[in-house]
Amino acid sequence: MEANQRIARIAAHLQLSNLQMEESSALRIAECRAKGGSPGFKVAILGAAGGIGQPLAMLMKMNPLVSVLHLYDVVNSPGVTADLSHMDTGAVVRGFLGQQQLESALTGMDLVIIPAGVPRKPGMTRDDLFNINAGIVKTLCEGVAKSCPNAIVNLISNPVNSTVPIAAEVFKKAGTYDPKRLLGVTTLDVVRANTFVAEVLGLDPREVIVPVVGGHAGVTILPLLSQVKPPSSFTPEETEYLTNRIQNGGTEVVEAKAGAGSATLSMAYAAVKFADACLRGLRGDAGIVECAFVASQVTELPFFATKVRLGRTGAEEVFQLGPLNEYERVGLEKAKKELAGSIQKESSHFRSVVPHQETITSENNYLIKEIMI
Ligand SMILES: NC(=O)c1ccc[n+]([C@@H]2O[C@H](COP(=O)([O-])OP(=O)(O)OC[C@H]3O[C@@H](n4cnc5c(N)ncnc54)[C@H](O)[C@@H]3O)[C@@H](O)[C@H]2O)c1
Repeated sequence: MEANQRIARIAAHLQLSNLQMEESSALRIAECRAKGGSPGFKVAILGAAGGIGQPLAMLMKMNPLVSVLHLYDVVNSPGVTADLSHMDTGAVVRGFLGQQQLESALTGMDLVIIPAGVPRKPGMTRDDLFNINAGIVKTLCEGVAKSCPNAIVNLISNPVNSTVPIAAEVFKKAGTYDPKRLLGVTTLDVVRANTFVAEVLGLDPREVIVPVVGGHAGVTILPLLSQVKPPSSFTPEETEYLTNRIQNGGTEVVEAKAGAGSATLSMAYAAVKFADACLRGLRGDAGIVECAFVASQVTELPFFATKVRLGRTGAEEVFQLGPLNEYERVGLEKAKKELAGSIQKESSHFRSVVPHQETITSENNYLIKEIMI
């Protein structure tokens, strides 16, 4: 009897303290003066709950140039947002779930990073992703055109060689296209090239800069080893080994992950390196130069990756290729041939393949992933 009374007393006490806790936390939330973080840029990540999206969101939350971070996905964005919002860094994090919240996610953004889509599985090329990711990119870029037409867009979704031309078409149709603001992210190729070249040279990768031009798939990825900094020379075997490894770095990861996706952590690192460069450019810093896949007149192709100078309005200057050696000239011809096909693929398939308002719900995203395996 006494024991029962004690239990009842404890239960009543617990109920009361839960109530008090709820009241006091409600008070804390109601009264707290949310300052909106430090001054800085507003950044949205579309596809923020994915393999790339999550580490990318964490690294952007740590970036002192970011004041507001919007995390959008069609699944799981509330969980990722709650988790990251407990980090004691300056950026305020807000989550958005599903297409009805896309407009709120995008309104007022300075930079939009898009890693939304399906990754490669073993045996797939980046082009195999085209039909699915094209629809996703189209929908998201329609959102950008409507809600933040002046934002810089960093497009990660593969195949970048085709999704960037698709995004350009969407922006043209909406009347908001500014080639300076649409940037295909090829930084992972540069990051890999820096790492692999540093290994061969026995240097710290942070000291090595390798320009990588062309596109972001197979032979379209063209590292310019003759322009490596610090100036270095390579034997024909080293050139062959490095070029192949840089071109196939993505496949190396896809195969090692054996069905569990493609590069996510190194990609998030590369995406943040590039996004940070874009933000420093937006801030007005001088001399910010990175490689990116952009609208270009460097070759006869409408899009091409080269070094670009990032400034207040995006890619303000697109650099020429510079002097190439014979090996690179041959590589350039191969890259251009392949790239022409990928860009053409976009224009011939765009209207017939891409449904008008396609988006991937959690359910059919799951189904698509099943089909992909
Ligand atoms: N540019 C590069 O160098 C590079 C490197 C690696 C991967 N990628 C590409 O990045 C993309 C994402 O890869 P991942 O490994 O993060 O894939 P993932 O499947 O782990 O994540 C993709 C995320 O996108 C979300 N998504 C799907 N449809 C959406 C929509 N309509 N709106 C918003 N979000 C949507 C999914 O819910 C998921 O959270 C793939 O296309 C992949 O090929 C690019």
